[in-house]
Amino acid sequence: MKRKAVSLVLALTMVASVVAGCGSKQEEATTEPAATEDAAAEKTDAADTADAAAEAVDGDLADKKVGVCIYQFSDNFMTLFRTELQSYLESKGFKAENIKIVDGANDQATQSGQIDNFITEGVDVMIVNPVNSSSAATITDKVVAANIPLVYINREPDATEEQRWADENMDVTYVGCDARQSGTFQGEIIADLGLDAIDLNKNGKVDYIMVEGDPENVDAQYRTEFSVKALEDAGLEVNCLTDQVGNWQQDQAQQIVANALGQYGNDVEVVFCNNDAMAMGALQAIQSAGRTVGKDIYLVGVDALSEALEAVIAGNLTGTVFNDHFSQSHSAADAAINYLTGAGNEHYIGCDYVKVTQDNAQEVLDMVK
Ligand code: GAL
Repeated sequence: MKRKAVSLVLALTMVASVVAGCGSKQEEATTEPAATEDAAAEKTDAADTADAAAEAVDGDLADKKVGVCIYQFSDNFMTLFRTELQSYLESKGFKAENIKIVDGANDQATQSGQIDNFITEGVDVMIVNPVNSSSAATITDKVVAANIPLVYINREPDATEEQRWADENMDVTYVGCDARQSGTFQGEIIADLGLDAIDLNKNGKVDYIMVEGDPENVDAQYRTEFSVKALEDAGLEVNCLTDQVGNWQQDQAQQIVANALGQYGNDVEVVFCNNDAMAMGALQAIQSAGRTVGKDIYLVGVDALSEALEAVIAGNLTGTVFNDHFSQSHSAADAAINYLTGAGNEHYIGCDYVKVTQDNAQEVLDMVK
């Protein structure tokens, strides 16, 4: 994609940011819309600068080698991400044979071996989606020692690690969205329905089940915490029936939700899933139990996979949150290029999520397809 689509995302994002209250970073955007616009303008400037830099060195980029480590190829969202990353890198002048993308198979030892291989092969820049974010310090140390700039994506290392990049002036950055925002948007989608609609068992509370992604991943932690916080911030009382780990996987979520529906029956009013793959599994379980989303249960995910958007349009999913793989993959590639050109980067490069309901699902689907 598709500059047009990126601009549309930016436009949607600005609306979403202004409308919705969020965690600490988003609170600033909500209370000061002007600051959001400034940030958006800065973002555009940064993108333009990166474009200009890339155009200036297009010829040189053809000879540069980039090593990309993905935590697990079978992950739906990371498949969209890596496909877009590959095509964007090529559009920026990298030769296809100089872009090597490897599958960590959800095993940190495998990925560490792949990083060692990239170092031995002498890649010019690395883009890493860590299997375990807690391994970031070790990864950073060896990549930096080999004098290779490093762009982390999708799984954010902790604050101490990020501070070290700044303190030690390392060519290391992180590109990703703030998962607190996606959790907040999920909670707001539910809260906006109003207690009367949600509280089907009339106990005065929102009775929910939570299906979490990989617990080591900050996205899972924040989405879990902030989706519930958004309900509480809207003045709703909440009751967690069960909170279980589905590891981002559809089949695991299907099982968890089937069991929970068996155990808690009609008391389950809301199902929060940390991503859409799991929401699709939850939907299968909901339908098998004879329940109907939008009528006697509510369901939300994150990512805006095409199938999830189609489910939102059909009324089978209450809402989702667009996890912008276009913006994230382009920013990661631009950051890699900035290191190669000597322009350098900030140590944190953010992006915004977009809240998706029936109101805008078709628009988002047209954009991502
Ligand atoms: C999240 C995404 C999940 C999964 C995870 C992998 O941002 O929502 O679907 O891909 O990243 O780390």
